[in-house]
Amino acid sequence: NVIHVILTGGVGSRLWPLSRKSNPKQYLKLFKEGSLFAMTVNRNQAYCDQVTVVGNCDNHQLSKEVMDAQSIQYTDVVEATPRNTAAAIAFAAFAANPDDILIVTPSDHVIVGEQAYGDSIRAGIEKARQGYIVTFGIKPTRPETGYGYIEFQEDQVLSFREKPNQDTAEDFIERGNFLWNSGMFCFRADTLLHELQQFEPQVYAAALATWNNQSDGRLDEALSKKIPSISIDYAVMERSKKIRVVATEFAWSDLGSFESLYDYLVETGHPVDENGNMVLGSDLYTAFVGLKNTIVVSTSDAMLFVQKEKSQDVKKVYNTLEKHQ
Ligand code: GDD
Ligand code: MG
Repeated sequence: NVIHVILTGGVGSRLWPLSRKSNPKQYLKLFKEGSLFAMTVNRNQAYCDQVTVVGNCDNHQLSKEVMDAQSIQYTDVVEATPRNTAAAIAFAAFAANPDDILIVTPSDHVIVGEQAYGDSIRAGIEKARQGYIVTFGIKPTRPETGYGYIEFQEDQVLSFREKPNQDTAEDFIERGNFLWNSGMFCFRADTLLHELQQFEPQVYAAALATWNNQSDGRLDEALSKKIPSISIDYAVMERSKKIRVVATEFAWSDLGSFESLYDYLVETGHPVDENGNMVLGSDLYTAFVGLKNTIVVSTSDAMLFVQKEKSQDVKKVYNTLEKHQ
């Protein structure tokens, strides 16, 4: 079977104050097509026989509403506490048969180009059947530091570098043979678990112990907290020799920061003034004097003023607020 695994644990802290714990960005009705979560479900229905949603106790109701509205049966994995993507993906693999193919996607990306998307997914499934862990590469457009980079030659991955610093990212863009990691993966369940066990035995063992002691798809909090929190990118993608890449042709944005949301909104017709300033979340007449590329975000209880190029730092505000709550 081919299983679509939707990761929906993140809160999208770089989009604070639009996005927050109680209403993460993947459930926001930002677009006319509905939420990013609903768009993710729909995009993959044609290629998969089953769906597994790995979320948490704060958001599994939000996922359920979307799935129920479309009468889609799914396996609901409810994490007690976020332990990052290595653990979340391990749970989905434990829930599957060893030879099932998993297509793992984040729940918070926009993708344009249905045909090209289908071509990439079909190519990925093919390689996954041969025992590879497939990443989907995106042609980079700027030295973004929030992404993983895939050094490639055809479908071979020469190296995988998660979240490089600015200088390194600039170097990668200059060298040219790098793709962004889209954060989507495709593999057989047993292939991934084998690599995870080899490179992060503690994550594997603690995740398995958590999985084996669940009640009704709900995972135990105390056991979960023993799982080292590490992303699949650091845990497996940077280390495994079984990684292959499918270079994609579709348009992609992870809307991971205000900068990428801004680019996407500009492309789709959202107003900006002549100096590149943009307002989100308010209809008030807003004037910008002497400011360039500033994004103002207004919500009922918080405002954010951020320079587009500093969008990655919004996470710091979110983290500071978390500490003071
Ligand atoms: N269930 C669950 N549990 N989901 C999680 C957890 C967790 O603990 N942590 C993160 N996720 C989900 C997020 O909701 C998101 O859909 C996806 O997993 C990826 O996590 P992010 O936190 O958004 O990762 P990132 O954006 O920093 O980096 C990843 O995505 C980039 C592209 O958007 C990496 O794969 C990068 O290499 C990649 O370039
Ligand atoms: Mg992300």
